[in-house]
Amino acid sequence: MNKKALSLVAATLFSGVAVAADNTVDFCKNNTANDYVTYSNAISVAEGKITDVLTSRYSYWTSKVSGKGTINIYSGGERCFFGTAKGATWPDWTQFSGEVHLYPLKKFVSNAGFYGLIWAHGGKTFNPEEAEKSASEGKMNSCFAKSKMTMHDGSTLATESGNRGLRIGHLDMEAGSRLMGYYKKSNTPKTYYMVGADNTDATIAGRIAPVEDNVMEEIGFIKEGTGTYRITGNTNIICGGLRVLAGKVLANNDAAKAKSGKMSGATGFIPDQTKVGVYVMQAGTIGGTGSIGSITDVYGSIEPGDNGIGTLIFQDFAKSTKTGLHVRPTTKVNIEIGSETEYDKVIVDGPVEYYNIGQDFVPSTRMPQIVLTLAEGASLKEGDSFTILTATGRQSYNNVEWHWDIKYPDAYTWEVKEESTGTGIKVVATVTSLKYGNQNDGNQDDVDTDTDEREEWDLNAEKTNTTALRYFQRYLKKYVGVAVRGWAMDISNDNDWQPSKIKKEFNAVVAENEMKFDAVEPSQNQFNFGDGDKLVAFAQRNSCRVRGHCLVWHNQVAGWVTDNGQKNSFNRSRAELLSILKNHIMKVVGHWKGKVAEWDVCNEILDDNQSIIRSNPNAYALRPSVWATGIGEDFIDSAFVWAHQADPDAVLILNDYDVEFLGQAKTEALHNLAKRLKASGIPINGVGLQCHLDAGHVNVSKLKANMERYADIGMVCNITELDLGVDNTSAEQLKIQADDYYAITRAAMTVDNCTTMMIWGLKDNDSWRSSNPLIYDAGLAAKPAYWGVHAALSKTHAEITGIDDVEAESRVSSSSAMYDLKGRKIINPSKGMYIRDGKVVVK
Ligand code: XIL
Repeated sequence: MNKKALSLVAATLFSGVAVAADNTVDFCKNNTANDYVTYSNAISVAEGKITDVLTSRYSYWTSKVSGKGTINIYSGGERCFFGTAKGATWPDWTQFSGEVHLYPLKKFVSNAGFYGLIWAHGGKTFNPEEAEKSASEGKMNSCFAKSKMTMHDGSTLATESGNRGLRIGHLDMEAGSRLMGYYKKSNTPKTYYMVGADNTDATIAGRIAPVEDNVMEEIGFIKEGTGTYRITGNTNIICGGLRVLAGKVLANNDAAKAKSGKMSGATGFIPDQTKVGVYVMQAGTIGGTGSIGSITDVYGSIEPGDNGIGTLIFQDFAKSTKTGLHVRPTTKVNIEIGSETEYDKVIVDGPVEYYNIGQDFVPSTRMPQIVLTLAEGASLKEGDSFTILTATGRQSYNNVEWHWDIKYPDAYTWEVKEESTGTGIKVVATVTSLKYGNQNDGNQDDVDTDTDEREEWDLNAEKTNTTALRYFQRYLKKYVGVAVRGWAMDISNDNDWQPSKIKKEFNAVVAENEMKFDAVEPSQNQFNFGDGDKLVAFAQRNSCRVRGHCLVWHNQVAGWVTDNGQKNSFNRSRAELLSILKNHIMKVVGHWKGKVAEWDVCNEILDDNQSIIRSNPNAYALRPSVWATGIGEDFIDSAFVWAHQADPDAVLILNDYDVEFLGQAKTEALHNLAKRLKASGIPINGVGLQCHLDAGHVNVSKLKANMERYADIGMVCNITELDLGVDNTSAEQLKIQADDYYAITRAAMTVDNCTTMMIWGLKDNDSWRSSNPLIYDAGLAAKPAYWGVHAALSKTHAEITGIDDVEAESRVSSSSAMYDLKGRKIINPSKGMYIRDGKVVVK
């Protein structure tokens, strides 16, 4: 068939495709599972042009796609993979920013039941609680991030299993289209669609639901950008939750029909209906004329109606389980009033509950607002009254007293009262006088959350001070160290170029891999301490402190325990696993007793998604691992107790990542778990913040505040694996990186309960990350980042000793005058410590 004819085939199969394509790519065949086709030729669609792509049953479509034109994708039956096998990699669409239309193609198999694309996840794990961060770290498929996508009647989007994310710049769904998660029946996958980055409005008339209605694999919908998304479907089951990060989501389903037909409505429900299903963040608004089927937690705004007056119902018509509304210090319920019969209403089939905790987990005394406005031309009478909100009850977190903070319109005099009814509560607003009562006293200040105060430092000036980092560490009584890659250097030879650098600059070391479970106990009860011993010997020869990393982790566990860190591969009992763990800890800690000063006892045991903290502020969720699942939570308690028994002097640390900045859920989770362990009398000395971060994404004020609060519970807070990735090695990026190294080092050096800062590797080309995150380049030359660390150390040193003036003076003078430690010039020094040329010299 020629190109034109194909286009016509496509065009006649679907409604709405009237325009013939300028180009057609056809790899649609009736393949079988044994006979996948891969199509990989690059496709470029110029602005104003149209390309039809006819995908195949059983195909891998891996083309690099570029341009600003329109791509019509016709999916031909089951298993049209968008990417490589099992979703391992996704194609390169970074240069495409045009329109994408998705259609079903029933050309070969008209009863396949699934005419969609299965998008690739690239093996990345997406975390909805940190959606933007996951996206910026490349942990979600962003092929369509710059595209305007329309899913046409009959089309479907699905993915492989796992925790996956797909970002779509703009998404319209026609009725009859469908967003799914894993395309096979399974309860465990979690799939999230993040839409709206291009700030436009869209309509979601299709269906968002798992492959079968009773299969509760999570499918989440995350709205970003300033646009308005209208969800009009009435049978959605967004069982992975709806999150409104910004802009508006309007539930515009037909609530009356949902009620009579027991339909799930615009959002549907989540598997555990006692938990929150809809989060509306501070910059977001939830509204509409329909119904929302799960508990809704609102940091932002509620706006009944669709740009006009309406009723918004929080009710689950499908299962009749109670919902509820959580209100926060920043919540605004926007109520528009037109007349006695025409006014906004919020109906909650569940309680309204106040949490005195803001989006960033900071407690606040602000009260949720009801903002009353008058519709254009509204004309009210004295005594008019409006029931603007009803619920089955009222409550609050920790029984905090609360009330609505009412914002009044610029007209009339009002009385707004919350009253109890036989079945719950209602908020009633009444016009008590036609005269303006001056009740509008302005709004509360908006909460400012994102400031970061930075000190200045001077890269070029710093470079003239060649004092080694280690010199300052001694005076600061802090450890600044590096992770040592034992297999990439001869650590037994102090004069080798890397060890000699390490001993000159640092006073602490940690083994990058050599003390992990699989390295020290490769087969049961057979211990291999040799590589770790070499590092310990190096440390002892060079007076370095040793951090031990790590005793309990889900990665790099020996294969005789688990084959993937999660599975209890040999079906061992809880008692057997406990005995394995105990033996491991006692032997390892015992072996290095008195030599390893500090241990990461538990590493990365928290789950990435800690949304649970939002409604249960003292909670934390553990990551599934062979230890957590096979033993239960008390594996943590036991691990610390055994480590303490094996070496009572060792400092015992709970170490994790994504726990650095105040205001993130996982940061709270770590604090909660540390508090819980302390309260249980467990011998834990502190926490470790790994700090695998990206340069330019550091808020050091939030880092410091987080570190400091561990002092309040008697704990140290160390920086254990610092590295700061950059996009490229331009001077600009390297300066941003240096600034962050400066700021973090300053925090570590000035926060009293921080004793140690470890950098996760020596030179960029040896880092576990490919983003040049370290302070030395491949040739061990100091990067600006090194000077950032240096400047932070010398500045803190100067603050403590008061000898920065001396340095300044020594730089201007060429003489080698000597000063005592108070900065007084000494003519004939006797034995002791002096300053010369800005350095301490010992005579
Ligand atoms: C990394 C090492 O740097 C790599 O060499 C190894 O292949 C994988 O582990 N968090 C941790 C460290 O706690 O143990 C990890 O180290 C990096 C992330």
